[in-house]
Amino acid sequence: MNHETITPLYWQDEALVLLDQRRLPGEERWLHYTDVAGVVTAIREMVVRGAPAIGIAGAYGMVFAAEAAWRSAGADWRRQWQADVQALRHARPTAVNLAWAIDLMERFAAGLTGAPQAAMLGEARRLHEADLAANHRMGQLGAALIDANATVMTHCNAGALATAGHGTALGVIRDAHAAGRIARVFATETRPWLQGARLTSWELSRSGVPVQLITDGSAAHVMRTRGVSWVIVGADRVAANGDVANKIGTYGLAIAARAHGARVMVVAPRSTIDLATASGDDIEIEERAGEEITHIGGQRYAPAAVTAFNPVFDVTPAHLVDALVTEIGVLERPNRETLARLLAAAD
Ligand code: MRU
Repeated sequence: MNHETITPLYWQDEALVLLDQRRLPGEERWLHYTDVAGVVTAIREMVVRGAPAIGIAGAYGMVFAAEAAWRSAGADWRRQWQADVQALRHARPTAVNLAWAIDLMERFAAGLTGAPQAAMLGEARRLHEADLAANHRMGQLGAALIDANATVMTHCNAGALATAGHGTALGVIRDAHAAGRIARVFATETRPWLQGARLTSWELSRSGVPVQLITDGSAAHVMRTRGVSWVIVGADRVAANGDVANKIGTYGLAIAARAHGARVMVVAPRSTIDLATASGDDIEIEERAGEEITHIGGQRYAPAAVTAFNPVFDVTPAHLVDALVTEIGVLERPNRETLARLLAAAD
């Protein structure tokens, strides 16, 4: 795997093959999945993670769901598969791309006659390729907003590893770097899963982009002292009013950015925009096990009696977003009206 071909997943010989992101950067281990239960576990346990990537994995999971239902019920297969469909849809709650992909595959399945596997696989592949194309388009649109010699900051990993390839936020940074406009990227380490330390710094350094890792707690200080012009992040869900759910810590970065004259760019494909969710208050925020905070590498370091609260996403209100970059266009200071107009024009 070289930097041109970083991808978290592919389909090969009847199997979904996932790069085990829990092991990166130390080990590049590929795991093979051939059933729905395996894909659900891989999503929940973050073998594959990042909103678009779990959507694509879910779409391939729907191929397994259709196959199993056809094997047991023949032409009646769609009566059989709801448990699998629901298990995939709910594997993780916050990133709408997962439910979006499952719904899309379910609507596609409704029109099929005969054995569904080949057609379902074709549709999953189409969705996979469309995500890659969207990332390249967003990369160009977002890069055009960045001035020469820019210092930017990113959070979590919204890169090739979180998508079909290229990335959303990191796609913008890659393209801006290729255009000679990026002097330096600060990547927050992103406690507790360390997506910034383990994944973003790995991706960017492989791509030759000058990246420096910082602790989450140092972000405001770095903005104040190092002249950050843009904070560039991905999203797990953009509500109808423009509020943005993304990795925990994004909200704090957006507040700090506003206080220090840095702008906030959210880069997210159409599949991340959820008009059915009125505002950020309606977004379910995933909470994961306290052990992710009390332990490091299996070793407990917090006192035994202490419990932990571990919400893994937060909501940045739309008024703190300076630019929303999608493959169907860019909105400055998005709001309910401009978002609705953008989507209506594209549909
Ligand atoms: O918990 P994760 O690693 O799945 O969270 C990922 C993020 O928050 C990303 O910023 C988001 O999914 C956008 S990825 C293009």
